[in-house]
Amino acid sequence: MHPLSRNDSSKPWDFDELIDRSGTFSVKYDLRRMLFGTDDVLPLWVADMDFRTPPFIMDALRRRAEHEVMGYTVRSEAYHLALMDWVGRRHGWAVEKDWILFSPGVVPALSMLVMAFTRPGEKVIVQPPVYSPFFSVVKENGREVVDNPLCWDGECYRMDLDQLRRVIDPQTRMIFICNPHNPVGRAWGAEELRALAEVCLERGVLMVSDEIHCDLVLPGHRHVPLASLSEEIAARTITCMAPSKTFNLAGLATSHVIISDKGLRETFHQTLERVHVWLGNIFGAVAAEAAYTGGEDWLREMLDYVQGNIDFLADFLQNNIPQIRMIRPEATYMAWLDCRALGLDDAGLKDFFIKKARLGLNDGPSFGLGGSGFQRINLACPRSIVEEAAKRLKEGVNNI
Ligand SMILES: Cc1ncc(COP(=O)(O)O)c(C=O)c1O
Repeated sequence: MHPLSRNDSSKPWDFDELIDRSGTFSVKYDLRRMLFGTDDVLPLWVADMDFRTPPFIMDALRRRAEHEVMGYTVRSEAYHLALMDWVGRRHGWAVEKDWILFSPGVVPALSMLVMAFTRPGEKVIVQPPVYSPFFSVVKENGREVVDNPLCWDGECYRMDLDQLRRVIDPQTRMIFICNPHNPVGRAWGAEELRALAEVCLERGVLMVSDEIHCDLVLPGHRHVPLASLSEEIAARTITCMAPSKTFNLAGLATSHVIISDKGLRETFHQTLERVHVWLGNIFGAVAAEAAYTGGEDWLREMLDYVQGNIDFLADFLQNNIPQIRMIRPEATYMAWLDCRALGLDDAGLKDFFIKKARLGLNDGPSFGLGGSGFQRINLACPRSIVEEAAKRLKEGVNNI
């Protein structure tokens, strides 16, 4: 057993357990040298978890594997019902089966949505600092990114709707909304979303709501699906969801695009058929069904554990490294660290984290405007790892 392990085998799951992921072709571990120039960093970057994928999902996968025939397979009725039930029960949104389309990932879905609903040269709005593929899927398809940066009111990040009105022009077709928002951790409220949708409806901007983090709202907060707010909003909204972040299934490449409007759905379906990815994979479907059927207890306990990690690190920073301030997330297992008081420029900050603190985090500027002076840390890992990260950070700061 790992020396830092607090493994307790009497529990069906143990978030303290340390699992060696190196050598499994894990992006988070095995691409460290490529990304940070060294393997000697604690990897707290890409958004997957160091927790075991839950046992009820692994059991379902094993059962399916035992059949030993892996031919072309479609998603079952039970898969659709489990998803509809989950979204209805947890988020109060009544989704119909016909509205659900498959995508091998949310980022591929965003890219296909750009292809389906915009033409080369047209514009897509993003609200930085935000998940970096929001920029790349627009640019790589030959469309133009328009920034509507979030604003910080001293307490909280907010969407700037006056600025949004100003940046929309006749070439603007679409907006990517990150709900909840990675990396700042906002779980947008109904009123904020309604106000945003009002501008988009008034100006004919199609709303794409990336809700991949919707199940990761932390205790005391709630997710509001944008399309659940009204039929009028739903008719101009495309929602992306997935079990991948929630249940640590990113390697199974399975997500859902939910579109209530028939015309929008048919247009997107044509793009899906053109790129021939609608079939998906057997294990992704089996895992998603198991997750949405039996995932509630595990998810609640996992989120409580992550909240404990967030509280630990926030307190540690406040008491030991006041130059680094955590913007406490309302959702997601990532925290946005304001490091501006360290007085380093962006290259210096990046260097500090890699060489002095020996931590592999996501660099703030990769999230676009508003990212300078920040780093994003992934806290979906055993507490002992967070403690080790805190210790390394303190030693690093003492060494600046
Ligand atoms: C907002 C957001 N969308 C999409 C993704 C990735 O989606 P996928 O792996 O399904 O392409 C992430 C991963 O971190 C994310 O934060």
